[in-house]
Amino acid sequence: MKLYATALLVFSTVATAKSNDETKPINPLLLSSPRNIDHSAKYINLPISPGKLRENLQNHASGPQTYGTGSKPSHLDRTLADYTVPSRQEIGIGGGISGNNQGVKIYAQFKQPFPDWLQSITGLTKWPDENAPYIPLDDIDLSVVPKIPKRSLGDCSNVERSHCSFECYRCVAPDDIITCPVMSQTFDDGPSPSTPKLLDQLPIKTTFFTQGINVVRFPETVRLQHQEGHLLASHTWSHANLPGLSNEDIAAQIQWSIWAINATAGVVPRYFRPPYGAIDDRVRTITRQFGLVAVFWDKDTFDWRVNDRSKTENEVYQEVRQWQAETPGALILEHDSTIKTVNVGIEVSRLIHSKQMTVADCVNGPWYND
Ligand SMILES: *[C@@H]1O[C@H](CO)[C@@H](O)[C@H](O)[C@H]1NC(C)=O
Repeated sequence: MKLYATALLVFSTVATAKSNDETKPINPLLLSSPRNIDHSAKYINLPISPGKLRENLQNHASGPQTYGTGSKPSHLDRTLADYTVPSRQEIGIGGGISGNNQGVKIYAQFKQPFPDWLQSITGLTKWPDENAPYIPLDDIDLSVVPKIPKRSLGDCSNVERSHCSFECYRCVAPDDIITCPVMSQTFDDGPSPSTPKLLDQLPIKTTFFTQGINVVRFPETVRLQHQEGHLLASHTWSHANLPGLSNEDIAAQIQWSIWAINATAGVVPRYFRPPYGAIDDRVRTITRQFGLVAVFWDKDTFDWRVNDRSKTENEVYQEVRQWQAETPGALILEHDSTIKTVNVGIEVSRLIHSKQMTVADCVNGPWYND
């Protein structure tokens, strides 16, 4: 409990903007990229003021940085949103948990700058919040979209079979992807503060369905994913239930997620996974215009349930072994949003212990649109 309090102190020191905090300088030895995190190290508490943090970031703006704290606070299992400093929105704060000693590292990275080309397309000067505005584009025609009613999440009461909803009827369109010739993991919702650990320990190339709002918050992590040969794909801008939105808002969720990945890693995504698997032919008519292929899954780990302990890690591993006995190939749904689901992902990759494919390679398709 004492160690928790030490770690919490760092979080709260960062989170409250006091101009004149007493701070020690950061030990440069503690600065590192996530790749170089020593997972066995235990770090001492090293309070830092927002001003010092900013100064330090500006002097070493090339990458994420690590600075010390005490031991593992249980709230590190929450999502990255908890660590973003509201008054310093250009800086994302992430944490990672190291090996046996469970020392905590916090690294900060600059939010992705809003590029000039995007400013000229949108007329805006910064990334939007979760309610991204629709920006009309010449090659997107919403007048051809079929008139299928909006519906809220989980409401399948008036959904016609002909609308081809995946979440209500497991309906897939001919151009949708649902499986893979070999057992292959996929990770939704990130990047998060826990993603660097996954990148560190995953022995295979995988597919990341990212939320645009997280992409611009953790651009260094996204570039690392790209550099290390993983496939970057879209999971919308802010995890929207697409069938519940207007045509314009669906287009906004898609266009901003594409722009975020393009601005950050310089690639234009070709694959997207609708949050909750929620889709119908109204949504597809819009997403296809952006050149996107919809990707689902045929094996669900429900790994997010380990977060509230309504499912155990061992139950996940049992099921994966069962799938391996039943079938040579599958697309497995996982999440890189918390340290618990990341740990499960690492263990599942060891269980599968064979060649996996990215979604693009599953269908022998291009990795990106140009
Ligand atoms: C991708 O980024 C480049 C600039 O690097 C820009 O010219 C291009 O329009 C962008 N494409 C999309 C689809 O966002």
